[in-house]
Amino acid sequence: MQLNRGAPPPQIGLNTGIAARELVANEREGATGTPGVPSARSDVRRGRWRQSLRRPRCGTMSGMSPSDVVLITGGGSGIGAGLAGALHARGSQVIVAGHGRERVEAVAARHPGMQAEVVDVADPEQVAALAERVGQRWPQLTTVISNAGIQHLVDFAGPGPLDIAELGREVDVNLKGVIYVANAFLPLLKAQPRARLVNVGSGLGYVPLAAAPIYSSTKAAVHSFTIALRLQLKNSTVQVVELIPPVVVTDLHRHLDRIPPRAMELDDFVDAAMVGLDAGREEIVVGLAKALRIFSRAAPSLGLKVVNQKAN
Ligand SMILES: NC(=O)c1ccc[n+]([C@@H]2O[C@H](COP(=O)([O-])OP(=O)(O)OC[C@H]3O[C@@H](n4cnc5c(N)ncnc54)[C@H](OP(=O)(O)O)[C@@H]3O)[C@@H](O)[C@H]2O)c1
Repeated sequence: MQLNRGAPPPQIGLNTGIAARELVANEREGATGTPGVPSARSDVRRGRWRQSLRRPRCGTMSGMSPSDVVLITGGGSGIGAGLAGALHARGSQVIVAGHGRERVEAVAARHPGMQAEVVDVADPEQVAALAERVGQRWPQLTTVISNAGIQHLVDFAGPGPLDIAELGREVDVNLKGVIYVANAFLPLLKAQPRARLVNVGSGLGYVPLAAAPIYSSTKAAVHSFTIALRLQLKNSTVQVVELIPPVVVTDLHRHLDRIPPRAMELDDFVDAAMVGLDAGREEIVVGLAKALRIFSRAAPSLGLKVVNQKAN
């Protein structure tokens, strides 16, 4: 869906003088002195900053196991379908829940034993009804991956006004949907000896893409909501995880003329996400989303320029 589209959207690109790969490597290796990136004020602070990037923040939990029973919203395509396939291949019971019946049923049909459910995550009554159905059929549910999302290009600089219903829909699906899913499924998850809720954010939650202002702000809000939820649930049996993708080749970008540059292949993303889930990590930041996290902390203005530069 595209709202009031004017000039072609800027593409997410990371090809400034500073190589994003170097930034990510620095985070991993703990190297210092990347040209062009302001360093932290003192060695002590820099050391703490690096440690905080590496260390899980609250209680940890062991990773995914084949005995997990997993519900994935937005499981009818892209990242949700990819994770569903990977988890099903390991022997987990997987339920894909999505908006379009045909899409979720097609995914389930490709994986014998996988189940499909239809839900609009923006409708709290539908989400509550789904939790009720799932709780009755799979009371041992251990994992919910709150992945459903949509992205619109929205141009407030155009003649406007924009369509209010369309503007609100992005907030309803991407933010309220995540809240409704958490609210409806937490009672079930809290009843398990070990469980996890995985919210899918975005690198654009760290640094906004101007062409997708509502999308970016909903993902920033999902990041904040997930941190708050993690703190609230720190003494519970539920681990609260945020999975933060970079640009990945999926239908999310169907409104664009071409695949964004440097987009990660879906299979590579799923492999990386599974490594994070297996390790029991609370923030799974994948690929170039790591560079956006560093930009947001160390050089926000530069990050904004990099994300919003036009592709060559
Ligand atoms: N691909 C990327 O570059 C990227 C980057 C960062 C974050 N993400 C996030 O990753 C998640 C998955 O996106 P994707 O890239 O895999 O895109 P996608 O292929 O378009 O998948 C999104 C899924 O969400 C479903 N969905 C949309 N609205 C829904 C609703 N109201 N209720 C239930 N399901 C709904 C869609 O189902 P229908 O098609 O049937 O409506 C679709 O299957 C999203 O949260 C997205 O923001 C993606």
